[in-house]
Amino acid sequence: MHDAIPSHRPPQPVDPLDRSRFPVDPWRLVERGYDGRDLGLTETLFSVANGYLGLRGNVEEGRDTHTHGTYVNGFHETWTIRHAEDAFGLARVGQTIVNVPDPKTIKLYVDDEPLLLSDADLEGYERSLDLREGVLRREVVWRTTSGKRVRISSTRMTSVVERHLAVMTFEVEMLDGHASLVVSSPVLNRQDGSDEYDVRSAAMGEGVDPRQAHSFGHRVLQPTLHEVRDGRLLLGYRCTNSGMTIATLAQHRIETDNPWTERLTVEEDLAQHVYEIAAEQGRVVRIDKLVTVHTSRGVPPRELADRCGRTMDRAVSAGVPQLQREHAELWARFWAESDVEIEGQPELQQAVRWNLFQLGQATVRAGNHGIPAKGLTGTGYGGHYFWDTECYVVPFLTYTHPQAARNALRFRHGMLDDARRRAAEMSQFGALYPWRTINGAEASAYFQAGTAQYHINADISYALMKYARATGDRQFLLNQGVDMLVETARLWADLGFWQVNGDQSFHIHGVTGPDEYNTVVNDNFFTNIMAAHNLRAAVETVRALEESDPEQMARARARLGLHEREVEDWQRCADHMHIPFDERTGIHPQDSHFLDREVWDLDATPADRRPLLLHYHPLVIYRYQVIKQADVVLALYLCGDHFTAEDKLADFDYYDPITTGDSSLSAVVQSIVAAEVGYHELALRYFYAGLFVDLADRHGNTVDGVHVASTGGVWSALVGGFGGMRDHDGQLSLDPRLPDCWPSLTWRMRWQLSRLRVRLEAEAISFVVEVGEPVTLTVRGQEVQVGSQEVRVPLDGQGPRRDREPELRLVGTTPSARGPREHEPHLAGGGVVPHSWSHELDDPTSPIPVRAPGAGPLTQSDPVS
Ligand code: BGC
Repeated sequence: MHDAIPSHRPPQPVDPLDRSRFPVDPWRLVERGYDGRDLGLTETLFSVANGYLGLRGNVEEGRDTHTHGTYVNGFHETWTIRHAEDAFGLARVGQTIVNVPDPKTIKLYVDDEPLLLSDADLEGYERSLDLREGVLRREVVWRTTSGKRVRISSTRMTSVVERHLAVMTFEVEMLDGHASLVVSSPVLNRQDGSDEYDVRSAAMGEGVDPRQAHSFGHRVLQPTLHEVRDGRLLLGYRCTNSGMTIATLAQHRIETDNPWTERLTVEEDLAQHVYEIAAEQGRVVRIDKLVTVHTSRGVPPRELADRCGRTMDRAVSAGVPQLQREHAELWARFWAESDVEIEGQPELQQAVRWNLFQLGQATVRAGNHGIPAKGLTGTGYGGHYFWDTECYVVPFLTYTHPQAARNALRFRHGMLDDARRRAAEMSQFGALYPWRTINGAEASAYFQAGTAQYHINADISYALMKYARATGDRQFLLNQGVDMLVETARLWADLGFWQVNGDQSFHIHGVTGPDEYNTVVNDNFFTNIMAAHNLRAAVETVRALEESDPEQMARARARLGLHEREVEDWQRCADHMHIPFDERTGIHPQDSHFLDREVWDLDATPADRRPLLLHYHPLVIYRYQVIKQADVVLALYLCGDHFTAEDKLADFDYYDPITTGDSSLSAVVQSIVAAEVGYHELALRYFYAGLFVDLADRHGNTVDGVHVASTGGVWSALVGGFGGMRDHDGQLSLDPRLPDCWPSLTWRMRWQLSRLRVRLEAEAISFVVEVGEPVTLTVRGQEVQVGSQEVRVPLDGQGPRRDREPELRLVGTTPSARGPREHEPHLAGGGVVPHSWSHELDDPTSPIPVRAPGAGPLTQSDPVS
């Protein structure tokens, strides 16, 4: 299942999964055969979550594991970031998602022999994540060492109806003979627990991988409650530093004709319900485990326990079958809104649905929380929220689940005061959103690739405008949106400055764009384009609301202290924003010095030196024209109405060969723009690269959780890339690029609250409104009215087609692009020519100065051959 770290060239579009272990099934991810070697990966892939509560796919028995994980969105501990060399304004408070008490484990002993999958003689094993119904299922037939066969069936779900509830079922049946069974079902604090259950999280960062979470040196969860209450197990805690509180309540129910006894015990870090059963052959034992979890910023755990009790009462009175049914109904609604079908490609269909399901699991019930980069499937990136939400996830939500998009944007509105404070701390007017955060404060200790990404402001405004235009939600704009637009626009107008070089132009210096391999640069193309969009959006929104809702807008002006002069100023800044363009090459440089740097030839970089961030000091990387992820190319997609087809082709050609794709946020965007400019085959390869980021562990870190931005990008690549959907300035348009090998692509999407179904085939594209009012859109410039009768628009091909592929261009100062020199340390007494120079010495045209090793730095008078 493992793939090597990707080369920057996406692999051929082949199905990368081992189908004897993970067979194709359009609605399930199925595992046939237990394999303990990649538990970290499968724990992530088989996670269940609802946006509030997430359970990794740990096996029921608990002992075989890579990382036990139970997460509540936003439930975090804080810690002091100690900078070895301090400076004013650096982030001070680290925030890390907590591994909350684990309710997943259910241990089975048959005649005192424990079931341990790694050791067990298994006659049958199938685990499946049912994407249609949102349930994890496992069927095992175990032959004990005494030769008795036992059937064990279990299910696990985190309810999307009751987001504080997890439902587990566990069924045991003796297939041969009778046996004495013990089922021991704990809730345990793995964050701080000791002894048997202190399984240290392998995913917590100890090495140099910045993508992993911080590990704590102190006790995180302070016990405040542990009791048996009305036959229920109760644990309550308060986080040592953040003060956040949590209560977890578990109730079990057994159903069997066999005689049984039970015992309930609680300690500070462990609550257990233990059943002893004298099981006869064929007499099924069924145990239901219901668990409720409530958290808060500081409400006493005792009060949370009462809330847990109330949720539990409702769940118990509904009963497990009804809970499962209602949960499945909501998932069915999810699919009715957002399913994407690829005809004749069952492997792809399965992978697409797995990605969309993970996207749903990260968002559907996130409510008033953000959307962590890993959802609730792992501790990667510490459970933080990034721009991933606005540029990769909110687009999917806007066009399929507008309420969830609104929630995500309202969540950002909730941190506006923190953003205002941060702007002031950064000597700026307006608001500056944190690059990464849980609680609203900036948590990025590495400011070069963190706080410097000011574009987060523009990303939020961009997502907000798309949402507002696609849904027509003016109330949101009036109550929250306008405040966010005004404060972010203020930041840009204050951050940038006017330069007089003949014409006056507005510049933004000292920022980092999306590409984290070039930091703290001047006039990053993406940032400038998106900032201009942000400024215009603020102007247009203020003007439009003044027209439509003068009274409310007057109140908004008063609460924001907004002056007319400011609005005029934003318009000027936007109109004169400097957009870097290089006449020599005909491309948009990523920043003002980008083309002056040496080019890094990725083909000359061994695969084992990737991703670059794990093998080179940041300074080494920053010296080169080499990029981690789409930056200019992302701007070409998001603000595509500002550029011609020729611009896009030239830029894509230039940047593609120097894009490592070391971030999973890249491939999906490269796929979209490759499709647009006519690289059909390359678009498909990038699509596969994005589609299988997690399923094939393409970045080698799926153990740390699902790459949620990439799952959102998969949707965008399908609908925006192959479907060619854009909606600049509130106009829905399509210019499709169906891959040759796909007979059809079908998707659903909301537009002005109507639900459209779109079916794309080689010869035509068809639309029908499934729910709501008629919709007007354009197909390649031609206006189309769509109502409840299907409309078919013939297509003349699938856009331009290019047979060649982008090639590396050596623009910059170096005549021979390679990348960093690889040197052995030159210790005293050595006398070898640095090996990376040796080929240059053989080459008479080589401009590399020949120096004796150890001769010291090159000086002006050194001869240059
Ligand atoms: C990417 C960022 C992204 C973060 C979290 C990093 O590797 O470079 O763009 O926000 O991951 O997904």
